[in-house]
Amino acid sequence: MCIEIDNKKRLFSLNTKHTTYQMVADSHGFLRHIYYGRKIGSFDMRYREYYSDCGFSPNPYELQTQRDFSLDTRSMEYTGCGIGDFRPGCVRLTNGDGSFSADLRYVGHSLREGKYRIPGLPASYDNGGQCQTLCIDLKDDVSDVIVSLYYGVFPEQDMIARSAVVKNCGKQPIQLYKAASACLDLPFGTWDLIHFQGRHCMERMPERTPVPHATVNISSGRGASSHQHNPFAILAAPETGEDNGPCYGAMLVYSGNFKIEAECSQMQSTRLVAGISDEQFCWHLEPGESFYTPELLLSYTDRGLTALSQCYQDFVAENICRGPYKDGSRPVLINNWEATYFDFNAETLCGIARQARNLGVEMLVLDDGWFGQRDDDTSGLGDWFVNEQKLGCTLPRLIDRIRKMGLKFGIWVEPEMVSQNSQLYRQHPDWALTVPGRNPTVGRGQLVLDLSRKDVVDYLYATFSQLLRSNAIAYVKWDMNRHLTDVFSRELPPQRQGEVFHRYMLGLYDLLERLTQEFPQVLFEGCSGGGGRFDAGMLYYFPQIWCSDDTDPIERLKIQYGTSFGYPIRSVGSHVSASPNHQTGRKTPLNTRAVVAMSGTFGYELDLQLLSAEEKEEIRRQIPKYKRWQSLIFHGNYYRLTNPLRDDYFTAWQFAAKDGTQALLNLVVTAPKANPYPIHVTLKGLDPEGMYREEGSGMVYSGAALMYGGYTLPILLGDYPSVQLYFEKIGFQDGDGASRNGNH
Ligand code: DGJ
Repeated sequence: MCIEIDNKKRLFSLNTKHTTYQMVADSHGFLRHIYYGRKIGSFDMRYREYYSDCGFSPNPYELQTQRDFSLDTRSMEYTGCGIGDFRPGCVRLTNGDGSFSADLRYVGHSLREGKYRIPGLPASYDNGGQCQTLCIDLKDDVSDVIVSLYYGVFPEQDMIARSAVVKNCGKQPIQLYKAASACLDLPFGTWDLIHFQGRHCMERMPERTPVPHATVNISSGRGASSHQHNPFAILAAPETGEDNGPCYGAMLVYSGNFKIEAECSQMQSTRLVAGISDEQFCWHLEPGESFYTPELLLSYTDRGLTALSQCYQDFVAENICRGPYKDGSRPVLINNWEATYFDFNAETLCGIARQARNLGVEMLVLDDGWFGQRDDDTSGLGDWFVNEQKLGCTLPRLIDRIRKMGLKFGIWVEPEMVSQNSQLYRQHPDWALTVPGRNPTVGRGQLVLDLSRKDVVDYLYATFSQLLRSNAIAYVKWDMNRHLTDVFSRELPPQRQGEVFHRYMLGLYDLLERLTQEFPQVLFEGCSGGGGRFDAGMLYYFPQIWCSDDTDPIERLKIQYGTSFGYPIRSVGSHVSASPNHQTGRKTPLNTRAVVAMSGTFGYELDLQLLSAEEKEEIRRQIPKYKRWQSLIFHGNYYRLTNPLRDDYFTAWQFAAKDGTQALLNLVVTAPKANPYPIHVTLKGLDPEGMYREEGSGMVYSGAALMYGGYTLPILLGDYPSVQLYFEKIGFQDGDGASRNGNH
């Protein structure tokens, strides 16, 4: 039993392998947060609490003589509104009488085996583990609003999934302006906030700042989780590094507008509130209706950022991702986008495919431009029938030719969008998100379809299920190339227009659920102008996501570094592209491009026909190397050995098998030095007692030596040289340090 309940004290202790989360429903019915940290079992941690009368922090009516009791200073599980907690709140609503009050008090709880589900939303699932769910009901007695807090406890994974349901059990409609998924109050300590900011072509750059005495707000109002911010944040003690120190993670399983707020209070406690963004949000709840918030994944470790990252990487891979590809190997692909852009026909594609097949590639992916009238990005979106004139043949004929070469066939789609210059828009202008009487804002020359409408979602399902049913398509790249503006649905009444952003996500998730369940054999890759929707919500449907439109390997070092804090390596779509790189103009060696791309789902995205014989030979060697290491890269532990945002000389990262039997060290020199000092790294995740043979040199080292003494590389000169060193455990160290099975 990972959830222990002391019914007399109404004390709830949620235990995972290494952590305890504790709360109490006190005698007044307030659900107060007591503790989250290293495991302490069910020991009542209230002995730590100390509160004094805090000026201008008011008291609940029945506690007015107990002036040290204020909701403004106590640690809470989930706050109401309008009743004296002035920190960032969880719920904001108006009742039928127009009042803004919600005084949420404990009314009951239930405990069950397994993991709760959230209707219509992606959520973590129990993958054959021992998950338990605790549900605690809080009620506002005046309006009869009930908030049910769900806690899914994954003991082995050190993960606690949280979600809230707001139900209007009263007799009058209410308006919900904010409904957070969860709140985390840390009563003591000072904390840094690490979040992941960016832009198109430079996503998920970690930024670390002390949580100030002001609300920091990480959010997206773009209708997608966005390139600019990611729905994942970390609270870390100032001294916390990769291998040491306490830190908490908070990851939303959601791909739309979100908000993560963090604030250090007047009493030096820290609060984090996370959930759907309250910007342009208003959910109308009729009596009997409920609103389900997305899930927040909480984790804690006292062993530093690497341990926290590994926890999220494993959890997302095992308990969020689904389908036959979640664990399995992924085909090495060639994508024609950076090779041809819109300028191709069946012959061009078959030429690329033939060359790719000869080098060992396993799948051709046909990117944008195969449908409707689409020779650039100004037209054609929405017309999902093949442009046979451009291609020179039918789609089945092209697929047949590719498959006869021994390659699988994959295809690019962008279902959520419509070009104004398209048959679909001419037939259904009301299907696009636009505001009556106003000219819509245009992004990449396109508009967004109103996925809050069931008829639009049904149409998209019919269109794309037909495409997949009638063609031998093994892979789909699902793109989304602009953010939402003019968010207004012609199907909804005025008082429900604040629901459109979230209803869009519900429509999209419904569509993805139907398609991915009906076509489990298809490998779906998410994409949004690269990594603009790289989040756990999307990973519930797509086991991999195109990480960034920036394919420059030196820039990618930073992007993949940032992505690794929360997301599994096997979810990171990563390709070798041309040199000079199309985004930066930088020239890099082919080897370096492959070394970087191999830390993900590997592929190529360039015109292979333009390569020299030596380069083709190199690719012929790269693919078997990747395939040999794919399982180690996908299932091993990942270690950031340097910080590419800080260290300019070189970037190093490493994989180690979970059982310590093998390791792969990757290193790229990003700024070669004259009169260079040594390149030295310490490996991680090895068996200190084990002996390891380095492939190639045949040198044998003890795990302890490599981890505590490190490894010095020969000087690497030139433009962006790189190395990959593979170590295999060959036995154990004798007492005197000599190898038993290996040879020195
Ligand atoms: C944006 C994607 O990220 C690219 O890889 C490519 O598919 C283009 N869209 C096509 O329009």
